[in-house]
Amino acid sequence: MEYREVIVLKDGRTCLLRNGTEVDAKALLDIFVLTHGQTDHLLTYADECMMTVDDEASYLRGKTESSREIEIIALVDGTVVGSAGIEALDATKEKIRHRAEFGISIDRAYWGLGIGRALTRACIACARKAGYRQLELDVVANNTAAISLYQSEGFVEWGRNPRGFLAHEGCWQELVLMRLELD
Ligand SMILES: CC(C)(COP(=O)(O)OP(=O)(O)OC[C@H]1O[C@@H](n2cnc3c(N)ncnc32)[C@H](O)[C@@H]1OP(=O)(O)O)[C@@H](O)C(=O)NCCC(=O)NCCS
Repeated sequence: MEYREVIVLKDGRTCLLRNGTEVDAKALLDIFVLTHGQTDHLLTYADECMMTVDDEASYLRGKTESSREIEIIALVDGTVVGSAGIEALDATKEKIRHRAEFGISIDRAYWGLGIGRALTRACIACARKAGYRQLELDVVANNTAAISLYQSEGFVEWGRNPRGFLAHEGCWQELVLMRLELD
């Protein structure tokens, strides 16, 4: 899918939201490693990213050509500072073809400026356009910023998984399961 929008941030700077393409592969891998090292709220540890630049380029090419999936990047002053995307649960199975998953991460230096909300809204719009009926996500229960964002965009909690993640330190991280009906 393709997407393009310019937004004004809370500090007055402009931010370009657009679908990531092959040329963004290196920048997206870099921001993945950066953001996944800044928080313990994400599924993957920074050193678990096994993708090469070529892998990432072909992943992004696939997303751009897809009519049902997208990776949207946020650029400030030409630098990628975050991304969000939607992915089908399993497009080969008719009974769950109406469901997509949402994911988002932003460089900590750019939190609180409105990028998270703008990326979330952009992904919801793309999910609607793609024809999904439900957008879903899992969020660590103490990630209050993300939960507040999701609730304010209409996501509702439908369950919890107390042993969702087992972090490095041997601690359980409870996951809140959320969903947004799109029709
Ligand atoms: C969660 C995240 C995406 C929010 O992005 P952001 O750009 O900082 O969010 P925004 O500035 O657009 O703020 C949107 C809303 O989030 C909530 N929020 C943001 N920061 C918050 C904070 N420090 N405390 C409480 N709520 C907060 C508020 O509801 C805010 O709305 P408001 O501006 O009307 O008050 C960002 O913090 C992030 O990338 N975190 C690390 C990765 C992560 O946790 N991803 C989610 C995994 S499920």
